Amino acid sequence: MKILAFETSCDDTSVALFEDKNLLFMSTLSQIKVHEITAWVVPEVAAREHANNIFIALKEVLDTAWFSLKQIDYIAVTTNPWLIPSLLTGVSVASTLSQILSCPIIPIHHIEAHIFSNFLKREESEISFPAVCLTVSGGHTDIYFLSDMWSLEKIGATIDDAAGEAYDKVAKMLGLGYPWGPIISEFANNWKEKRKAWEKGKNIFPRVWLEKKELNFSFSGIKSAVKREIDMRKLQKWDLSIEDKEEIAFEFQEAVNEVLVWKLLLAWKIFWVKTLMLAGGVSANDNLREKLLLQTENNFKIIHPIKKIYSMDNAWMVWINAYYKIKYGKFEKYIGTLSV
Ligand code: KG4
Ligand code: ZN
Repeated sequence: MKILAFETSCDDTSVALFEDKNLLFMSTLSQIKVHEITAWVVPEVAAREHANNIFIALKEVLDTAWFSLKQIDYIAVTTNPWLIPSLLTGVSVASTLSQILSCPIIPIHHIEAHIFSNFLKREESEISFPAVCLTVSGGHTDIYFLSDMWSLEKIGATIDDAAGEAYDKVAKMLGLGYPWGPIISEFANNWKEKRKAWEKGKNIFPRVWLEKKELNFSFSGIKSAVKREIDMRKLQKWDLSIEDKEEIAFEFQEAVNEVLVWKLLLAWKIFWVKTLMLAGGVSANDNLREKLLLQTENNFKIIHPIKKIYSMDNAWMVWINAYYKIKYGKFEKYIGTLSV
């Protein structure tokens, strides 16, 4: 079974070809250099980049795998949610191929695909249900209850910014380069190494719990708190030192991750599930993974994507979601045009 997968929901153009469970080749073209100028992804600019890149990625995949389009059995593509102009590019190309090749096309939900990235290189039986999953990325911060692998119920969400967006904005405020999230993590680790005595830090930034019993999040306030801290330090000594940046990165990361883990544990206490899962770009964060893995006294299993790259947007997660949809007949056999 050969599946051609497309992911263009945000700023990565990713195309991959799989034969049964084997990746033949994946090409992911990042647009980050373009978006660095505006410091955020402008949807129309992203769509233009996708349009310029998608055939380059597709050609690279087919050439490297020595495959022709006629050999494809299924096409899978992210259709929602996220940036509409970006999604439209992938969906238009995939729909056109579906029609020309008379090949069935499978629509993929971006968040479901993030959750399914936990099945990459894992036996299906390793993940027990019911489960709760924290999907935390640049555009979303949600908690889902899954009674089984196909039943997703959103039980919590950010009421303003996504956690990943806060990571990105704080990295930019600190003048750190790309990749923003991982660089915050690197600076925070440096600080931890240098100041072993202050393991728990000074708690400079507020933990935003909202109502203690609710599963929603808010991350807009912490960005303002970081801005105030930066401005105050600049007033005192003209510019930030490396140590200032490391300490602020550390304190910020602690404040955000403590809330993320605390809310996921709250979901466990409410639903008494067997598994707690992480998914989405921020689930690659070492400190977040460590904080959750510390909760060993409780009777649940903790799962996160096996490799960091599986946490990120790419055609891998689109494929694994499609693979299981085909395996369990969870899609309608359809040839033609999908909408976003
Ligand atoms: O899921 P994703 O690749 O794209 C979206 O769907 O948004 O997530 C991207 C987000 C970005 O905000 C990025 O800074 C963040 O994930 N991220 C991280 C780390 N790696 C990626 N945040 C914190 N620590 C990381 N190691
Ligand atoms: Zn994503």
